Amino acid sequence: MTDLACKVIDMCRQIAGFSEEPGRTTRTFLSPPMREVHHALGVWMSALGMQVRIDAAGNLRGTTGGAGPRLIIGSHLDTVPNAGAFDGILGVVLGIALVEALGKARVVSIEVIGFSEEEGVRFGVPFIGSRAVVGTLDESTLSRGIGAAIRDFGLNPADLDEARLSCDVAGFLEFHIEQGPVLDDLGLRLGVVEGILGQSRMRVTFHGQANHAGTTPMALRHDALAAAAEWISRVECLALADRELRATVGAIEVEPNATNVIAGKVRASLDVRHWSDEQRHRAVEALFHEAQEIGARRKVGVEFEKGLDQTATPMDRDLTARLARAVGAAGYPVHPMMSGAGHDAMILAPHVPSAMLFLRSPGGLSHHPDESVIAEDVEAALEVGMRFVRDV
Ligand code: HGY
Ligand code: MN
Ligand code: MN
Repeated sequence: MTDLACKVIDMCRQIAGFSEEPGRTTRTFLSPPMREVHHALGVWMSALGMQVRIDAAGNLRGTTGGAGPRLIIGSHLDTVPNAGAFDGILGVVLGIALVEALGKARVVSIEVIGFSEEEGVRFGVPFIGSRAVVGTLDESTLSRGIGAAIRDFGLNPADLDEARLSCDVAGFLEFHIEQGPVLDDLGLRLGVVEGILGQSRMRVTFHGQANHAGTTPMALRHDALAAAAEWISRVECLALADRELRATVGAIEVEPNATNVIAGKVRASLDVRHWSDEQRHRAVEALFHEAQEIGARRKVGVEFEKGLDQTATPMDRDLTARLARAVGAAGYPVHPMMSGAGHDAMILAPHVPSAMLFLRSPGGLSHHPDESVIAEDVEAALEVGMRFVRDV
């Protein structure tokens, strides 16, 4: 199994080189390097005798033979800008490696899916691939340039219905790096995910008055960047007051973005997460009112554009219990935990029984080029995966 674990890591590192940007890993929805990913993984899938196709949402789909309910194993192929080598892709490569490891002993039919877009970087719309698979990709989403991107890639949005799962499904399993410090702090290889935090994503725009930085007295300014900066510090204060709340302003655009011009307009992202949807909505509401109060005092307009409102999602109890049993049977401590990161499993879970296995993130680092995995943890995940598949 050690060789296979090393093959998994090597494949992830090779695929990290398939990028829109030289010298760093950035791979967004149906960008040209996605073809190289489809090819590299498709060759491996075909060598294992799997039927390989790219569906109309750009998902890579590899299916083994075999009768009876199908086990889906998958994760996402896309990345954030300047990403590491394992977020998403590890869950797809581990699925293919499991098919290889099971070999002739495999009794259940397996479909490995590489979802085309989970992060939502290119169009601000996450989970495009997995939503196409469960049939929740609505027409309005396609109008936001996504339909054109599908056509540019040589696919046909009219075929999206064929992306939907149409077989009897035993369940969905997603392997993923934890992307946080919990397992590393505890010295554990694996974590069994019980649920995924809900998340709100939106944009806040501050409309001020651009003016000359040298001639405009401080008291006469309507500085959009000063207003945004005050609000961003309020975002952090509010999140620090609730241990279960995560609130992040990760992206900011300033106009005209010049040293000697008072900012006229600032567009800031907001990402809010909590295991309680009610607490999450309450936090978003509070931050909206904070922005309005700051805007009124500074005579700066404030505009909120709601984006994603993804409910907190529990994993399937029975499938998760089977996964926990497989972890224990393989001789590893069973550590149930919540996921602060969003995953395709939260899109699948309302439609098919879903479970997630976390692998330790050394240093708790992710969404960063130094993101890594430990070979023995990958080996442990393969061992658990073999037992889980046999149980299912
Ligand atoms: O942002 C997230 O939670 C995940 O990495 N897409
Ligand atoms: Mn990610
Ligand atoms: Mn991910």
